[in-house]
Amino acid sequence: MIIGFHRIDGQICCDGIALEAIAAEFGSPLYVYSAAAIEAAYSRFDRAVCNGRGVVHFAVKSNSNLAILRLLARLGAGADIVSGGEMQRALKAGFAPEKIIFSGVGKTDQEIEAALEAGIGQINAESLSEVERVLALARNMGRSTPCRLGLRINPDVATDTHAKISTGKSDTKFGVPAAEAADLYRLIATSGVIEPAGLAVHIGSQIMDEAPFEAAWIALLDIAEGLREDGFDVPMLDLGGGLGIDYRDGTPADADALGAAVTRVFGNRPYRLGFEPGRYLLAEAGVLLTRVLHSKPATEKTFAIVDGAMNDLIRPTLYEAWHRIEPVSDTAGAVQPTDIVGPVCETGDYLGLGHSLPPLQRGDLLAVRSAGAYGAVMRSNYNTRPFAAEILIINGEARPISVQQTVADLLAQDRIPPELQ
Ligand code: LLP
Repeated sequence: MIIGFHRIDGQICCDGIALEAIAAEFGSPLYVYSAAAIEAAYSRFDRAVCNGRGVVHFAVKSNSNLAILRLLARLGAGADIVSGGEMQRALKAGFAPEKIIFSGVGKTDQEIEAALEAGIGQINAESLSEVERVLALARNMGRSTPCRLGLRINPDVATDTHAKISTGKSDTKFGVPAAEAADLYRLIATSGVIEPAGLAVHIGSQIMDEAPFEAAWIALLDIAEGLREDGFDVPMLDLGGGLGIDYRDGTPADADALGAAVTRVFGNRPYRLGFEPGRYLLAEAGVLLTRVLHSKPATEKTFAIVDGAMNDLIRPTLYEAWHRIEPVSDTAGAVQPTDIVGPVCETGDYLGLGHSLPPLQRGDLLAVRSAGAYGAVMRSNYNTRPFAAEILIINGEARPISVQQTVADLLAQDRIPPELQ
């Protein structure tokens, strides 16, 4: 079997199954994922980056469908979560509580209490206020918890990614400054309430170059070594996620280069290492299928108006992100400049601008590539558009992994108060 998305006899297939057949059965817009491609990406990352010296905590925010989570839990991954809702998903999907790390800059008391109650492995705090809150709530519990408390550092490192997903500079809301880290860590370690977990860092997402990772990890290691010299236990270094993928031509990201950076920085030092990849594991393993509703010529370009929109995949609109878009069936004719736009009433509603595509006609099916991460999970019901359904190809079967939402489901969410009846 050819794993993932490939053209076979003029038809893009997922794990050998024609996407045309899947869309004919389940409609469009539609997300389609390959379980085999997720598995392959997980193995690649595990071999190249973890390499026996670290573990993966999958970034649940990148794709939180329960079936996808179950698959990753079965592969042996842990989970990196950022809300009480994601915690419930991770637990329901079958991640052992001790393999869950709770990250994020603003956890509510209810979320912290729920995490302590559930006995998740680790909470990462990002401010003095949050450390104090976790200690107070843990003290109130009146019994010990297996949960440890880690500290996220802001290493003040720049990245070459989009500003909205760059998190490592000191002017972003994330982490505590390196200069304050040691004092805060001592506060945790001497609290007598909760054990320190170690230090964490995450400098952003869709980062193509290993140099900023290396700079951030060196800063983290420096703090960790200082703490160990002072006699504190620093069991785990959580090195975050962020490895980018090539959205333009689909060549896989260089996990080997990241693995080499891990070796350069940490060598044989006695830390357990943790990684939180999301995009690397999921992006290439999913597509958004969408059908052409109308083709409309304009000055110097053509609009392909499709049934998928910014509410289904917000990345092009929100981050000026590029996703490859291809006709699912081989299409003849010279390529021409084409904007692939949705039905939503905003000029910002597009899946791609300035693509070179052959002439498209009503009914043509398009595959928007690399949509498995931060795709379905960021969708909305804007314009009262029901969510696109999701299909997982697993062991040669196309399995729905979400219920098809209907307009009736959406209307049932609202309430008209008695005054207006
Ligand atoms: N760990 C933490 C603490 C994070 O905040 C994130 C992502 C990750 C791990 C996973 O990063 P990854 O390996 O997926 O790059 N919606 C944006 C991406 C936001 C990423 C937020 N944090 C997008 O569509 O590009």
